[in-house]
Amino acid sequence: MQRIVRLALLALPLAGLSFAADLTGNWLAAEDMKDGTLRRTYLNLVQESAARVTGYIRTTQLVYSVANSTATGPDAFTLTASMSDGKNERRATYIVKLEGEVLHVSVQRAGRGAATELLAHRVPIGEGAYPKRIELPALHKVPYNGLAKTPPMGWNSWNKFAGRIDDATVRAIADAMVANGMKAAGYEYVNIDDTWEGDRRDAQGNITTNNKFPDMKALADYVHGKGLKIGIYSSPGPNTCAGYEGSYGHEEQDARTWAAWGIDYLKYDWCGARNIYKDEEMQPLYQIMGDALQKTGRAIVFSLCQYGRQDVWKWGPDVGGNLWRTTGDIRDAWESMAEIGFNQDALASYAAPGHWNDPDMLEIGNGGMTDTEYRTHMSLWAMLAAPLLAGNDLRSVPQPVLDILTNADVIAIDQDQAGKQGRRIWQAGDQEAWIRELAGGAQALAIFNRAGKDANVTLNWSDLGMKKAPKSARDLWLHKEVRLGKTGYSGNLPAHGVVLLRLGK
Ligand code: GLA
Repeated sequence: MQRIVRLALLALPLAGLSFAADLTGNWLAAEDMKDGTLRRTYLNLVQESAARVTGYIRTTQLVYSVANSTATGPDAFTLTASMSDGKNERRATYIVKLEGEVLHVSVQRAGRGAATELLAHRVPIGEGAYPKRIELPALHKVPYNGLAKTPPMGWNSWNKFAGRIDDATVRAIADAMVANGMKAAGYEYVNIDDTWEGDRRDAQGNITTNNKFPDMKALADYVHGKGLKIGIYSSPGPNTCAGYEGSYGHEEQDARTWAAWGIDYLKYDWCGARNIYKDEEMQPLYQIMGDALQKTGRAIVFSLCQYGRQDVWKWGPDVGGNLWRTTGDIRDAWESMAEIGFNQDALASYAAPGHWNDPDMLEIGNGGMTDTEYRTHMSLWAMLAAPLLAGNDLRSVPQPVLDILTNADVIAIDQDQAGKQGRRIWQAGDQEAWIRELAGGAQALAIFNRAGKDANVTLNWSDLGMKKAPKSARDLWLHKEVRLGKTGYSGNLPAHGVVLLRLGK
C-alpha cells in the first residue's frame, strides 16, 4: 500500500506537464549505403520534460551528447549536439519531430551544406551502445620493419573516389598504372582507402568486405599480377571516418586477415578511437597495430593517420610507423596545398629512411588547380621527401598531368637515398627558396613564387649559405642544363610557380 502511494506521488509532477509525445527511447535511422551496408545513426534520447530532451547521438565515427534542446512544437525539438575532438569541439544540429511511431530527423552539420533527412524507428535500449574501453598496453619499441627506405609511391582512392571506390575501379587503376607509365616511373602501391568494409563481422569476428569488394584476395592477386602492391585502410576505433567497421579490439585478427589477403600497406586512421580514448593515448593504440602487423610475418608498410596530433613525428617510428600524416586533410585547392606544404619546414629533422613525414596525398590532376600549381605541388612534395601517392583518376590522365606525375628528375629528388627532407633557406615576401641535401653532395634548389601574380625573383648565392655559384644546374621542369649567374639567381616566376634545380657540387 505504502509503495503504491509513493509511486502515485512520483507520477504526479509528470502528469502535470502532460507532454503530447515522449521521445524517450533508442531510435535508429538506417541509411542504405548501396554497397550492402547500412549507416546507422542511433539517437538515444531522454525526454526530461515538455521543454527538454537530453541523451546522445551516435553516427559514423561520432558520438555527440545533446547539449541543448529547444521545443519547437508539442513533439518536435531542435537538438544541439556537441562532442569534443582532441582540442576541438564538433557540433551538429538535429531537428527531430515525432509523427506516429516514426521520428523524422533532419541533420545539419556545421559547414556541411544541405541537411540530411532521416527516418528513425524505436529499437531496444542498448542496441548500438558504444563498445567499452579496452585498457592500453605499456609502451615498448616496435622494431623497424625494414620497409619504405625511400618515401612510398603509389596511388590512393580517397581524393578522387571517396566512397565510390570498388573492385573494378581498383583493377582498372592498376591496369592504367602499367599502361600509362606510372608504374615505370616508380608508383607501386595501389591503396584502397575507406569504404571497403562490410558493416558486420562474421561469426568468428573476422572483418568482412562490402558488396563493392566481393573478393579482396582475388583483387590483391590481380594487383600483384601487374607487378604492383596493394594497400588497405582501417582505424584503431570501432568506426572509420566514413563510419565503416574499424579494427577496435580485433587488431591481431584483422592484421592476419589482411596478410592472408596479401595486403602490403595499411593506412590506420584515428577516427572513431576519439570517442573512447584521449589524444594523449594514441601511441599505445598505434603500437597495438604495429605489433600486430609484425606478428603476421608479412611485409606491410604502416601508415599512421591522426592528422599530426600529439607530435606524432616524435613517436611514429617507435610504434613501427613508416610514415605519419602531419596535418588535416588536403583539398584540391591552392590554399589548402600551400598551407600544408609550406608549413612542413620545422619537421625536417624527423624524416629519415624508413620513417617519413606525410603531408597527405597528391591532388595533382583532380582539376582544382592549374598545371603550374600542380608542378609546385609536385616540386614541394619532392623537396619534403613526402610520400607520392597520386590521388587522381589514373584511367584517364591528360598528358600534361601525366608529365607532372612521371617527371623522372623530380621523382629522383623525392626518392633520394639520403632521405633528408628539404628546408626553407630564404624568404622575401611571397617568394621563398628551399634546399634539399642529396646523396653524394648534390643539392636540390626550389624557388617558389607564392604570390597570385608573376614575380621577378633575385637572390644571392650567399643568401643560400653558398660561398660561390654552384658548378652546374639542371632545370627539372624545363629538362635542360641552365647557366647560373656568378652572384646569384635571377628570373621571372609565374603566379604560384616554381623553378626546381638540381645543383652539382
Ligand atoms: C580521414 C583521412 C582521409 C581519408 C578519410 C576516409 O579524413 O584523413 O585521408 O582516409 O578519413 O574516411
